[in-house]
Amino acid sequence: MENKEVEQKLVFAINGERFELSKVDPTTTLLEFLRTQTRYKGTKLGCGEGGCGACVVLQSKYDPVLEQVEEFSVNSCLTLVCSLNGCSVTTTEGLGNSKSGFHPIHKRFSGFHASQCGYCTPGMCMSFFSALLNSEKSQRPDPPPGFSKLTVAEAEKAIAGNLCRCTGYRPIADACKSFAADVDLEDLGLNCFWGKEESNDEKVSKLPFYNHQNEVCTFPEFLKAEMKPKTLLDTEGYSWYNPVSIEELQSLLKSKLTENGERVKLVVGNTGTGYYKELEHYDTYIDLRHIPDLFVIRKDKTGIKIGATVTISKAIQALKEDGEGGFQSTIFFKKIADHMDKVATVSIRNSASLGGNLVMAQKNHFPSDIATILLAAGSLVDIQTGCKKIILTLEEFLEMSPCDSETILLSVTIPSWEPIKNISSETKTELLFETYRAAPRPLGNALPYLNAAFLAQTSNSKTSDGVVLESLQLAFGAYGTEHAIRVRKVEEFLTGKFLNVGLLLEAIKLLREIVVPEKGISHRPYRSSLVAGFLFDFLHPLVVVRTGTFNDGLNGYINGSPVKVSKPENHFDQFDHTKGLGILSPAKQLVKVNRKFHPVGEPIKKAGAELQVSGEAVYVDDIPSPKDCLHGAFIYSTKPLAHVKGIKFKTTSLPRGVFGVISVKDIPAGGKNIGINPILGYEPLFADGLTEYAGQALALVVADTQKHAEMAADTAVVDYDTEGLEAPILTVEEAVEKSSFFTVPPFAKPKQVGDFSKGMAEAEHKILSEEIKLESQYYFYMETQTTFSVPDEDNSMVVYTSSQCPEDAQILIASCLGVPEHNVRVITRRVGGGFGGKAFRALPVAAACAVAAHKLQRPVRIYLNRKTDMIMTGARNPMKINYSVGFKSNGKITALHVDILVNAGISEDFSPLIPMTLVPALKKYDWGAISVDIKICKTNHTSKSAMRGPGETQGSYIAEAVIEHVASYLSMEVDSVRTINLHSFDSLKLYYAESAGESFDYTLPSLFDKVAVSSSLQQRIAKIHYFNSCNKWRKRGISRVPIVYEVSVRTTTGRVSILNDGSVVVEVGGIEIGQGLWTKVKQMVAFGLSPVLCSGSEDLSEKIRVIQADTLSLVQGGLTGGSTTSEASCAAVHECCDILVERLKPLKERLQKQMDAVSWDMLILQAHQQSVNLSASTFYVPDLTSNHYLNYGAAVSEVEIDLLTGATTILQTDIIYDCGQSLNPAVDLGQIEGAFVQGIGFYMQEEHLTNSDGLVMSDGTWTYKIPTIDTIPKQLNVEILNSEHHEKRVLSSKASGEPPLLLAVSVHCATRAAIIEARKQLLSWKGTDGSSSSFQLKVPATMPVVKELCGLDNVESFLQSLLSHQ
Ligand SMILES: Cc1cc2nc3c(=O)[nH]c(=O)nc-3n(C[C@H](O)[C@H](O)[C@H](O)COP(=O)(O)OP(=O)(O)OC[C@H]3O[C@@H](n4cnc5c(N)ncnc54)[C@H](O)[C@@H]3O)c2cc1C
Ligand code: FES
Ligand code: FES
Repeated sequence: MENKEVEQKLVFAINGERFELSKVDPTTTLLEFLRTQTRYKGTKLGCGEGGCGACVVLQSKYDPVLEQVEEFSVNSCLTLVCSLNGCSVTTTEGLGNSKSGFHPIHKRFSGFHASQCGYCTPGMCMSFFSALLNSEKSQRPDPPPGFSKLTVAEAEKAIAGNLCRCTGYRPIADACKSFAADVDLEDLGLNCFWGKEESNDEKVSKLPFYNHQNEVCTFPEFLKAEMKPKTLLDTEGYSWYNPVSIEELQSLLKSKLTENGERVKLVVGNTGTGYYKELEHYDTYIDLRHIPDLFVIRKDKTGIKIGATVTISKAIQALKEDGEGGFQSTIFFKKIADHMDKVATVSIRNSASLGGNLVMAQKNHFPSDIATILLAAGSLVDIQTGCKKIILTLEEFLEMSPCDSETILLSVTIPSWEPIKNISSETKTELLFETYRAAPRPLGNALPYLNAAFLAQTSNSKTSDGVVLESLQLAFGAYGTEHAIRVRKVEEFLTGKFLNVGLLLEAIKLLREIVVPEKGISHRPYRSSLVAGFLFDFLHPLVVVRTGTFNDGLNGYINGSPVKVSKPENHFDQFDHTKGLGILSPAKQLVKVNRKFHPVGEPIKKAGAELQVSGEAVYVDDIPSPKDCLHGAFIYSTKPLAHVKGIKFKTTSLPRGVFGVISVKDIPAGGKNIGINPILGYEPLFADGLTEYAGQALALVVADTQKHAEMAADTAVVDYDTEGLEAPILTVEEAVEKSSFFTVPPFAKPKQVGDFSKGMAEAEHKILSEEIKLESQYYFYMETQTTFSVPDEDNSMVVYTSSQCPEDAQILIASCLGVPEHNVRVITRRVGGGFGGKAFRALPVAAACAVAAHKLQRPVRIYLNRKTDMIMTGARNPMKINYSVGFKSNGKITALHVDILVNAGISEDFSPLIPMTLVPALKKYDWGAISVDIKICKTNHTSKSAMRGPGETQGSYIAEAVIEHVASYLSMEVDSVRTINLHSFDSLKLYYAESAGESFDYTLPSLFDKVAVSSSLQQRIAKIHYFNSCNKWRKRGISRVPIVYEVSVRTTTGRVSILNDGSVVVEVGGIEIGQGLWTKVKQMVAFGLSPVLCSGSEDLSEKIRVIQADTLSLVQGGLTGGSTTSEASCAAVHECCDILVERLKPLKERLQKQMDAVSWDMLILQAHQQSVNLSASTFYVPDLTSNHYLNYGAAVSEVEIDLLTGATTILQTDIIYDCGQSLNPAVDLGQIEGAFVQGIGFYMQEEHLTNSDGLVMSDGTWTYKIPTIDTIPKQLNVEILNSEHHEKRVLSSKASGEPPLLLAVSVHCATRAAIIEARKQLLSWKGTDGSSSSFQLKVPATMPVVKELCGLDNVESFLQSLLSHQ
């Protein structure tokens, strides 16, 4: 076939707009197209690998046979534009906007406070929109007006695959649930539509009305004429084919592969690239989706045949539909469907094909779930190679040599299964099928540590004891092997035998010998223990039947992982809080509104929330590129310490699109090679001949597109040489050995309280030199580091950067370029999440971009891809801690000494100040005497920076670890040890001389009591005791913890200007990073100007706009961080307002004498005419005697652990947090919930791994698992305490951004409590003495960690104990 025989245009629509392309690179993704070729930039790039959901859009396709439009969500980062012919795409902009009106989803998301930084929000919105549209197509009865046919459970599941790092998900779920037909509005959380007391009818009437009949048109008519698959699309030298028959496909393959020797790629959903990140180009791409034989679904008595291109979503739908097979088959298929429902996310499943999954498993060793379950189900596959068509068992297919490009998977057939009949009239036969997967997230969006599926035919003779396994198919996968396997040896061992405890134990032992996780895969012993757990779970009910052996509460599964497709009936359901309620239970938010400073104190919605949801909000990467704009991608070091002898590309010529490579030699004369401001230590911008850590910037490739820059950076080969160099310092121990430390400034040195030796002398018991290790945590802002530099006249530079500190960026860039600071204008409008990672770590990215723009004299932008961001940006400080503690027999601690080695990485950054943050958090208890020694170790790692709660997070944890240890030592209730060691006000004053405030400020003891009452702590402890005594394989634990968190308010600037028409423009030093700073500032300006309020000015807030930070407009903006920037910015604008009020008051009084009513507009007009200066700016300097204060909070968390998998389910958390007089309770509530969930990430989930060179291995959404909606507390109740009036604080408010993160340690402690119960049981099974509580629970307490402590061999121990008692 000649390459250019037919040239056709690709036609599709975006938000109803027609797009026609004649040339397009086949690797162009829809996201890339949207963001670079259209005005629709609402759809965001968060990961580019299918794992975050920020890029989700709605795709619509017309089915001419059924004459209907299909609508489904897809990940635009994986969808190829070439596959969109005849399709329509709807982005969040397509639903509504500020001009034509927002969609009810936009309005409800805003009203339920479901958006903070707003970067995840458009994707959330579109995931939900798709579910909403599809629910309306169901046959369910019509919902009440204003609602949809969606259920609450479906609404939650719709967003289960989307990540949000800010909100903690609860408000997003509430916004979605508000559309559900079965929602009880009482169950929905704080919103700005209705008040607590309003009736249901009133509430409904206040919700932005939803009417599905008014829904936007997602498929324009004109596309119906464009449906015909184009047979050839020739694009930039590469071809894209859409064959419509197997014959056409065969001839294409023959001509391309055999005759022309071209490189051919078969494509279906293209989701595989999310995992394999293929960057290379093929000559020819062949889309298989237009071949009818490949999308057939045929179901009959014998089974179901599913074409290879059928999407997983459609396969699930077909499997769930009742077919002709018998009852058992129906259940069997439904179980397969239920398991498939946990593969990836809805939007991935909507384009991922079944065949693609199996081919990835076969060819690329992908740890597939589908291969494993279909293997156990005895499936067959049809394949075609050349003209040869063959049918193989799935097992044969998996075992054959990897498919070549000529081999096509045509279909897969899953046979129907029914119990064997007629063994004898005395015998009852049964068919059993279960599937399992243990994964960090129960609802998917996480690959499993292990998956399995088992099919068994059993017979149960009335005359004999026990069940006989007539036949068995056991499949295991995802444990590092090439592909899923059938374990025939075990199958044979068990077949035909009566099942009893001994046999089960032998089978498990045999299984463990065969299913051995491969070397090199993580958590090998854990995965191996899952093997035993899964088989035990499957077979133990069969031992019950006759012997009664397990009839004692063993069947303890109700929820969580592993996903046991059919949950056993059990009589402990009354304990399950969550049964039947979807993912989350209704939660309470208690906030008090203080009207004294109105509108400050009102829970008003976030400024610009609708703009964020609708995609109108402009982030740095959304600023349109000028025509000659270039893009940069870093080449970073993979070695910790080496000379860099050279950097080359794999190709001899410069890679496609590359303009240049910027490195240290491109720093202009007079400029400096520095990557951070000198006040934070020295760090080169680019390595200068020597690289000192893996992840260090060596150079920046600059190319015409982001993709070309990244492809080139990826092909760079660095020549390293370590000759003559010492070994790098990679651990804190090595740093100590080599005395590699940074100096802690005198003011930051930890202050001793009391006399440690004296305290130890008073102690009745001592624990000496106990060690703890804490690892790192990555920021995981949804918007990675991004910056855009535009050279301007007179050697100046305008830099748009996503930064928490534009002022520092300006200083650094000016130093690097060797120009005065007034030549550098840094502009930041909003930041898509910061969490401390965009405080100092954004600076080198901005500086490198400016150097490139300066050198090339062209605009340059950088948007780090997720992997580069994770590798280069650093994270939270890891630490090694050693403590000695003395205490009395009643648990009262008398002395504590702690030695801490902080891993700072290569440069100081924030690390030398860690003692100032860690020690106050550690001092939350009265330790009697306390002394702390902290060494800041310089190592060959990326520089660690001030991640949310830097130091405090670890300090608070250390305190709890010590308390837990003391309780364990004394065999006391941990809660009693906590209570007895809480500070009195006197000890508090001693510990926090500068920040303790007055005695009425010290609300912690009352909060601590209050949370016990509000969470029914005592009653639940009793219930948990009972639960634990009844359940063997699930245990629960509960824990209550307090926090004390010191903050200090810093200086900042503000300017308030009133324009001619009475509208107000506000500039502040603080940056809106999602924390609601703009909202609070707006409220404060409205309050500040209220003394000159006139008639007609009641809605002053509506007239106020806070605008971007611009370092040449407002100087000395400072850093946004430390939780107090909102209040400082508020204080600054308050001062501005005072100045304006003073200027306007006399005029107002004069006018009032002249006329009855003076309107605001009139006042301002007159002021302008009379030359009153209507712009006021200030530099706010807090009172140095009162700028430090303490924040208090307490939380109770209850968890349930699964002893077979180590999964932890957080059943409930109750938080009470003292916000002073909250400036905006809705904003503060969002901060509390979001920070708490980020804390869960640190303490429970997020594994930050590096290789032996210190190179970050947790470098994407596949390997780094932040919390999702299915891993947060099922019920999260928050009460915001409005404590007393505080003269010296900003309108009596307190901080909320960081402190609540520390409360998540309650989850960790509750998990420990549950593990103690598991270990008690394990000791009794093993018949050994010992302490069940003398263990350390690592941070994060992931599934493998929990399981290890519960006993990797707990199943065997249990069975052994049964045998020994028989
Ligand atoms: C974020 C994410 C999470 C995931 N989680 C899971 C999970 O938990 N469990 C799990 O099992 N899977 C998971 N997957 C894998 C997912 O199921 C597969 O990516 C998907 O099914 C592949 O289908 P596709 O149509 O997109 O294939 P493509 O990406 O288009 O193709 C994949 C490969 O198969 C080849 N190919 C496709 N169809 C055929 C055919 N008919 N004949 C011959 N070759 C063919 C292609 O050439 C390519 O090499 C996940 C994927 C993503 C992106
Ligand atoms: S950007 Fe597509 S899923 Fe993350
Ligand atoms: S609001 Fe969800 S990531 Fe920021």
